[in-house]
Amino acid sequence: MAFFLSAAFVYVVSLVLLLLLGATRRRRRARAAAKTTRAAGQAQGRLTLPPGSLGLPFLGETLQLYSQNPKIFFASRLKRYGAVFKTHVLGCPCVVVASPEAARTVLVSRAHLFRPTYPPSKERMIGPQALFFHQGDYHLRVRRAVQGWLGPDALRALVPDVEAAVASTLRWWEGRRDGEASTFHTMKRLTFEVGVATIFGRGMPEHVKEELRRNYYIVERGYNCFPVPVVPWTRYSQAIKARKWLGAILSDIMSERRAGGDGDLGGDDDLLGTLMRCRDDGGAALSDDQVADNALGVLFAAQDTTASVLTWVLKFLHDYPKLLEAVKAEQMAVYEENDGGRLPLTWAQTRTMMPMTNLVILESLRMASIIAFTFREAVEDVEYEGFLIPKGWKVMPLFRYMHHSPEYFEDPHKFDPSRFMVAPKAGTFLPFGSGVHACPGNDLAKLEILVLVHRLVTNYRWEVIEPSDDVTYSPFPVPKHGLQARLLRATTTAGGAEEEDGRRAPAAAA
Ligand code: HEM
Repeated sequence: MAFFLSAAFVYVVSLVLLLLLGATRRRRRARAAAKTTRAAGQAQGRLTLPPGSLGLPFLGETLQLYSQNPKIFFASRLKRYGAVFKTHVLGCPCVVVASPEAARTVLVSRAHLFRPTYPPSKERMIGPQALFFHQGDYHLRVRRAVQGWLGPDALRALVPDVEAAVASTLRWWEGRRDGEASTFHTMKRLTFEVGVATIFGRGMPEHVKEELRRNYYIVERGYNCFPVPVVPWTRYSQAIKARKWLGAILSDIMSERRAGGDGDLGGDDDLLGTLMRCRDDGGAALSDDQVADNALGVLFAAQDTTASVLTWVLKFLHDYPKLLEAVKAEQMAVYEENDGGRLPLTWAQTRTMMPMTNLVILESLRMASIIAFTFREAVEDVEYEGFLIPKGWKVMPLFRYMHHSPEYFEDPHKFDPSRFMVAPKAGTFLPFGSGVHACPGNDLAKLEILVLVHRLVTNYRWEVIEPSDDVTYSPFPVPKHGLQARLLRATTTAGGAEEEDGRRAPAAAA
């Protein structure tokens, strides 16, 4: 019996080895073939498409992408074909790029050859004049206005608004039954408040804010639905209707500001005013639709992104108690400097007194990589390293792949904020994108996280209910159920057993 078992074992092991060897050989052959075809193409003065498969007619590889974890879809192809390969998904031929050099080419050095591209239903929902969808002079003009408004001077002045929004959000959370709420939904309340303060200033009446919030959430619910515009009760149709309302609300606000006389467009202290004052070289102002699409576009870009990252930061701090202690010590020093929280936080304190919290934010951005990739479209035939990227093809830089590659980040699946004490290799860490469309709101997002963490660890403690490492997509990745958690005043400290890597053992989470 033992003989048969060991013979069977040897047989199975040999079979597995043969299969692995076969797979490795096939991979090598595929790469070598791609190299040879490329070299032959170059020698004859013509370019070849990158290696990869376009899959079935019409369907391409869409079924393969959606029938498995997308990580596996990309990882298996990257292994087989290298860091640049072709595929065909969601009706579009596509070149996937996963090296910092290729991402830089697409997003920075030859960005003029790759225009941003989104499905028309999404463009319609956000507003077709929003800067994300444009290239060239119009994009630059609006971007300058938005970036100027999200620069250090504006953010310095915004710290009290962020602090007030954080304090009221945490009071709301604390006031839930047993202090229980989804962290993600709570963080969305915060990012909406901060978004509104940034875009519309301090003086927005409560009823207008409520109307804005109600319609905004209807739009958001329809944003990721299949677009069926002719049927009035679908989420998509309701979202389109709510989007029209949002446009009307903004139009009223703009009219009121203009009627304020004296060219009063909301003073210097909000983004709406900045957009209303924005002029091109010939002195022409933006149209009301252009202002509205951009103001709402920024609100959209700022909300779920920041709320997802905030949720991850809270999860990681909860999961690593030693780290939480270190962050708390750093934040207590600020709290004491501010006379036990009686004085307001300052911009300078967020910049200089919170290095550990900053490292935690960077590592959370890397681990969660909430924007896993982006899309561009080649505006003409483009040559890249001997390959042809044909005009009209989509190009997809894979940020998450680079963030999780052992080539650029040692032991990439380990949560280790200290790795950011040394700057990562250029172009390997792009949570906010890169180039002309890189995120102009990154410093505001970081400010919100720093202020939230400060208030949270100096005044409260929180307990995750049923801790888990599962992830849900909303569409950004967030911990399961949005990280259901209980918020309590910090009279006692949460304890709990730890595992070897300093991580809290799941059973002892609270
Ligand atoms: C942690 C939170 C955030 C993350 C991870 C994030 C990430 C990104 C990324 C990766 C891009 C580039 C997309 C591309 O190249 O296709 C982007 C663009 C953008 N983000 Fe953010 N973002 C965040 C928060 C914010 C905030 C708070 C704001 C505004 C207040 C904002 C406004 C924008 C805008 C307007 C763009 C488009 C820029 C352009 O096309 O020129 N984002 N963001």
